Amino acid sequence: MSIDLAVIPVAGHGTRLLPATKSQPKEMLPVGRKPVVQYVAEELARSGMNRLLFITGARKTAIENHFDEDGELNSFLRHSGKENELAELDFEHCDIKYFYTRQRRQLGLGHAISCAQSFVGDQSFVVALGDSIIGIHAESDIVRRMVTVQEETQADVVIAFEEVPHADVSQYGIAQPKHFSGDVFELESVVEKPDPQEAPSNLAVAARYVFRPVIFEALAKTRPGKGGEIQLTDAIERILEEGGKGIGVRLAPQEHRYDIGNFESYFRAFVEFALADPVYGQGLQTHLKARWTTG
Ligand code: UTP
Repeated sequence: MSIDLAVIPVAGHGTRLLPATKSQPKEMLPVGRKPVVQYVAEELARSGMNRLLFITGARKTAIENHFDEDGELNSFLRHSGKENELAELDFEHCDIKYFYTRQRRQLGLGHAISCAQSFVGDQSFVVALGDSIIGIHAESDIVRRMVTVQEETQADVVIAFEEVPHADVSQYGIAQPKHFSGDVFELESVVEKPDPQEAPSNLAVAARYVFRPVIFEALAKTRPGKGGEIQLTDAIERILEEGGKGIGVRLAPQEHRYDIGNFESYFRAFVEFALADPVYGQGLQTHLKARWTTG
């Protein structure tokens, strides 16, 4: 059976976006018209996932509420003749099963993934970070491509990578490919936040993964690193060092990763999505140009 399960970690505190994230999940912040996590769920649904497991936390119940069917709101809109607004809730009816489990302590992304172990069992699965959108309006089939690669190669780890400016490599996990050969390449290792002079490439880990369950054994052996957190990259590195197979899949140029984890990238994402809005984009562009030229 093809991979149909995606794990979406959304339990982090989102401290870089305070105060916006004090009482609401960062994954629920809007980018254009939708909350970030809705783009992620829609991307995964289009890529063939039909079970989504959220790794969630105490202040994240808004995410569960968002994906519930809201009968009262639906019937209010129907009875008020608000058919267009009703259509905005169509995502509630998509053919997806939602599951939730809590990460009881925020001990890092690696620890969040390990909370999925008993649900995942012995199948391969996708991980999609709940704070990152791939491509404008999430129009990407990267997960489908990664699943195909995993099924063809039986790789232990498949990771999406995006080319970033060389000067920025120290902010990311960076691929060290075995050979540079196109959009799909075998991985020697992943180097966490290298100096630009020493970076093996400018291909940055981009928020989408496919794992065989061997990741759980690697996570269990991974000791906490900076800030007491269990880093996913450390567990991936362990798999590769022990001879496991890792494959990188490059994002296409139009599949930019919008990471909304800090204000700079969140603002950029919001503005780009708003400018691409089919109804308001053109007017916003005109407005911004006028503001600019009049100072
Ligand atoms: P980040 O490291 O960017 O999220 O994790 P964070 O910890 O919320 O951010 P800051 O540094 O405090 O601002 C990327 C994804 O992993 C999830 C986050 O919710 C986010 O979607 N995550 C992170 C967890 O689920 N659990 C964790 O312990 C950490």
